[in-house]
Amino acid sequence: MKSMNNLEPQRLTLVKSLVKSCGEILEKAATEDNTHRLKKNNPSDLVTLYDNKVENILVQGIEREFPKDSFLTEEMDRGPVNINSYIWIIDPIDGTTNFVQRHRDYSISIACYKGDFPVFALVYDVMAQELFEAQKGQGAWLNGERMLPLTGMGYLKNSLVDFSVNGIHTMKKHYNVDLVKLSGSIRGHRALGSASLILCHIARGDTDIYISPKLHIWDYAAGNLILQELGGEVLLYPKDDLLHSPRSSRLLIGTNSSMVLEEFKDYLGLNL
Ligand code: IPD
Ligand code: CA
Ligand code: CA
Repeated sequence: MKSMNNLEPQRLTLVKSLVKSCGEILEKAATEDNTHRLKKNNPSDLVTLYDNKVENILVQGIEREFPKDSFLTEEMDRGPVNINSYIWIIDPIDGTTNFVQRHRDYSISIACYKGDFPVFALVYDVMAQELFEAQKGQGAWLNGERMLPLTGMGYLKNSLVDFSVNGIHTMKKHYNVDLVKLSGSIRGHRALGSASLILCHIARGDTDIYISPKLHIWDYAAGNLILQELGGEVLLYPKDDLLHSPRSSRLLIGTNSSMVLEEFKDYLGLNL
């Protein structure tokens, strides 16, 4: 791997070791009966003590070494980020419902930005012990092995598309787009339940398209960099705004190529 500037390699090494120890904590915890509570009384938005625990270990571990860095994390609003500093975007458990239900697909997702620009990203699939990693402009790795670029080809009819029932509902309500009409025009659909992992699976070639109308930056920042480093295409609407609306949700469509993204948007009649 080529080296980066400005203590970025030190940041990457530190966070990799923090992620590995948090992964061990989560793997052990996954066998327990995980007490959870609902956020805002929403039965599909859960939080466990491990979401907070992992977030705190990561933030405190990074802060100790790099006290001027700022943080945008899911479980705690840490105030405005300093756009002139390194910014860590962290989802301590992406896929908490899977974690609580003892499904295997959840991850620790971390992106490091310098101002508005991603520098590197990690998505750690805890149960599979797979560490996806990307460095801006340098490519992506899976457990240290370079990942192959995507072919840039593909068609909607051959695509495996990930979307959820909530996604169907919200796309209809906010964009007047009917995802149900995809039935019969695609190879199949899944709902994995961890946005960061879905983006990594597109990067690896296991899934082709992901559409989710209400994601937050901590769900996708790391996965997006990994996918884009391999030639995948991501549409975000509206675009990220770390200064003014860092905690707002956005529509995301992640695809294995710009060709598939255009075909998908055309098919759905989505003019964005
Ligand atoms: C959730 C997952 C899920 C997506 C939700 C996210 P969480 O993250 O990424 O796949 O559909 O919108 O909130 O709550 O498990 O961190
Ligand atoms: Ca998440
Ligand atoms: Ca989370």
